[in-house]
Amino acid sequence: MRKPIIVANWKMYKTRVEAEQFCEEIRPLLAGQDKVDAAICAPALQLDILKAKLQNTGIGVGAQNMYPAAEGAFTGEISPRMLQDMGIDYVIIGHSERREIFKEDNELIKAKVKSAYEYGLCPILCVGERLEQREAGETVEVCAGQLLSALEDLTAEEVEQMIVAYEPIWAIGTGKVATAQDAEDTIKALRQAIADKYGAATAEKVRIQYGGSVKPENVKELMAQPNIDGALVGGASLKPESFAKLVRYQEA
Ligand code: 13P
Repeated sequence: MRKPIIVANWKMYKTRVEAEQFCEEIRPLLAGQDKVDAAICAPALQLDILKAKLQNTGIGVGAQNMYPAAEGAFTGEISPRMLQDMGIDYVIIGHSERREIFKEDNELIKAKVKSAYEYGLCPILCVGERLEQREAGETVEVCAGQLLSALEDLTAEEVEQMIVAYEPIWAIGTGKVATAQDAEDTIKALRQAIADKYGAATAEKVRIQYGGSVKPENVKELMAQPNIDGALVGGASLKPESFAKLVRYQEA
């Protein structure tokens, strides 16, 4: 059985004081919760606060990006070695905002995924189609293409451990959530693409999340789908009460 995983992607929100306050408030709200894995991917400048304030809570801490080199002349970048040094658990890779705004391509994303494993970080690999690609019926082709490209240099064992997030670009921050059935259909097809390449046993172990306008009101229906193993949440993860409700979706 795949354990559900709900991850907050704070994007470029929150100062250090705000991050600290969030941690103080989330601790009691998620105390004793162990049915679902929970993690927060924060801006790099807040990661030390999260590590300190979320100690012994079971809530994981993740980064939102990294550059695939141990160190070097890469002004403005953060390395996986630095994240490892800080005890970080997860790193989001290939978010559509990185692909679209910062022009990251599949080759760079593939190198980042490989590099994350070299430093003991669990990658959360994002894939997703643009609205015009969905309308042209290219959703599965586009997303499976992004996915298989990113996995190319991995062993089956590494593939098993990774987390994939299917995030249709048109559903991010727009309030337009994919229907639970649409999300399920695409995620099922992605699992099949992994099975075709690495075998069914590997594909059955990979946790695949849905992301895009997930809220406490729609999380339960999404999570009820057999292939949806979690959610990657932007806007609705910024308030402790809302994030706690998402993680505790089974209790609603
Ligand atoms: P929203 O939940 O704000 O739509 O963002 C989704 C997302 O991009 C998470 O990575």
